[in-house]
Amino acid sequence: MNFPFRKGSKVYIAKKENKEMRITLYMAMTLDGFIARDDDSTDFASKNEWKSFSAMLKKVKYAVIGKRTYNIMAQGKEFEKIKNCHFFVMTKEKIKEDNKSITITNKSPKDLIKELEKRGIKQVCICGGGMINSAFLETGLIDEMYLDVMPVMIGKGIPLFGKKNTKKVTLELKEVKELGKNEMQLHYRVKK
Ligand SMILES: NC(=O)c1ccc[n+]([C@@H]2O[C@H](COP(=O)([O-])OP(=O)(O)OC[C@H]3O[C@@H](n4cnc5c(N)ncnc54)[C@H](OP(=O)(O)O)[C@@H]3O)[C@@H](O)[C@H]2O)c1
Repeated sequence: MNFPFRKGSKVYIAKKENKEMRITLYMAMTLDGFIARDDDSTDFASKNEWKSFSAMLKKVKYAVIGKRTYNIMAQGKEFEKIKNCHFFVMTKEKIKEDNKSITITNKSPKDLIKELEKRGIKQVCICGGGMINSAFLETGLIDEMYLDVMPVMIGKGIPLFGKKNTKKVTLELKEVKELGKNEMQLHYRVKK
């Protein structure tokens, strides 16, 4: 590794951005770029990773997910474990949801962000899956990315970005943090 690194060290101090809303993508991924196995399992994501992800959601309080991720989280009763975060689920399907912490929306990424801005929301976390990550990347709306890199390579699965991105994206590394043994968190700013 050829940059300053120490457990929990900051290598760059975030500049205050003069923008209405900060859009943060947060994902756990394998070293070879997958966010889940073909059977949707994310067994490679560690307890420390989950802790870090939960802390981010607790801080940001608003998250956007795709319908497939929603279904998987609902099956795993994950919405019961994550407190103090409101989830916006993107889908064209009309889903009846009784949980007051979940909003089903058929808006496009841009329209959803406009709507959240209108509601006075200052930061939102894009939490996958790969299709939703791609949809947001394509709009150029993502400001920063937190990537928790797990020390495994799985060869195939659900990629971090579900579609080939057509936009050139350049990133600035802001922080590298050790999450646990052999696990790194990379924090990038998307250069605009
Ligand atoms: N490692 C991690 O941190 C992490 C985090 C989250 C998820 N995951 C994994 O990611 C996988 C799911 O990802 P995925 O890519 O298959 O699905 P996804 O992104 O979760 O959901 C895709 C669905 O969202 C809906 N959608 C609404 N607006 C969309 C838009 N603009 N573009 C694309 N889709 C839109 C579509 O459903 P409709 O047809 O209903 O509109 C689409 O089929 C699972 O295996 C899950 O375990 C991993």
